Amino acid sequence: MSIDDGNESSRRPVLRPEHHDVVAVIEGDPFADPGLPHHEPRRADVDERAARRAERQVAAMFGLSSLSTLALIVCFVLIDKETMINVFPLGKINALNFALGMTLGLSLLLIGGGAIHWARKLMAGEEIVEDRHPQKSSPEVTAAALAALQAGVEDSALPRRKLIGLSLLGALAPIGIAPLILLRDLGPLPEKKLRETAWKDHHEIVFENGGERVRPEDLQVGTLISARPKEVEGLNDLAKAAIILIRLAPDEVRSSRSLQQGYEGIMAFTKICPHVGCPLGLYEQTTHHMLCPCHQSTFDLANGGKVVFGPAARNLPQLSITVDGEGYLVARGDFAEPVGPSFWERG
Ligand code: FES
Repeated sequence: MSIDDGNESSRRPVLRPEHHDVVAVIEGDPFADPGLPHHEPRRADVDERAARRAERQVAAMFGLSSLSTLALIVCFVLIDKETMINVFPLGKINALNFALGMTLGLSLLLIGGGAIHWARKLMAGEEIVEDRHPQKSSPEVTAAALAALQAGVEDSALPRRKLIGLSLLGALAPIGIAPLILLRDLGPLPEKKLRETAWKDHHEIVFENGGERVRPEDLQVGTLISARPKEVEGLNDLAKAAIILIRLAPDEVRSSRSLQQGYEGIMAFTKICPHVGCPLGLYEQTTHHMLCPCHQSTFDLANGGKVVFGPAARNLPQLSITVDGEGYLVARGDFAEPVGPSFWERG
């Protein structure tokens, strides 16, 4: 065999099956075709008795497989659905499920084992090389195909009867567009719903559990709590509006924008991971890192909720907060960016 790339000088002599060792023919050529190793006949290739024995082994596996399938049917008919049995080390399990699983598993295993044994012992075992040929058609075949196409176009009378061609296009185009109408069946457009949460200007911030309003004094430096808006309608709104409140010493916050959006070192971030929306829950106080338990995205709360590890593609959205006249924490509006998973339309 030789590799023919059309360049006579690049043809390389290669090994043929009669060579007993795989040796590069062109010394020092790292790309030399290693050829094929010598084919060693298997026992079943040269000994008819061994071949017949292998045949019987394969047939036995297929036969046992059919018996196992019959046993499956028998089990299905005879075993009561409610019967429980003790199987070490699984303990108490349903007898019917166990029997069906075992018999079906055995049937499939025996068919697979028989097929592998058949392929290894009896099917042709010689290594085969298939040369790669150019896939491009010859110039003659290409010319004949183009001529046939041209003749077909002439025969259809389209070049002379343009009205037919144009009206056909007019008939086909709407059919292509019609399925787009069905997209409306996917439900109402989300409009701005994906970009908005329940937070509005002056919405009161309350503890997630208990519902009491939160004062800045409720949070010691280093503390982190879960919170929500007092005014929410339904669980959907609540799920998107959940936040975490963290208090850091102002000089620990490395993002001035984040510091400005907070109040005296108290910052509010969404509790919803921007990867696929799990609630964040693992806070490492010494590093101020918040970890998502689902896929380990990690956000640096001292640096504007920046992603420092994991698959999340966006930083944690932050909610601007302040205090009202009574000294309680309130929102200064909605999140400036969408909360929740990074859907395709959000980038
Ligand atoms: Fe948070 Fe995947 S949902 S990392």
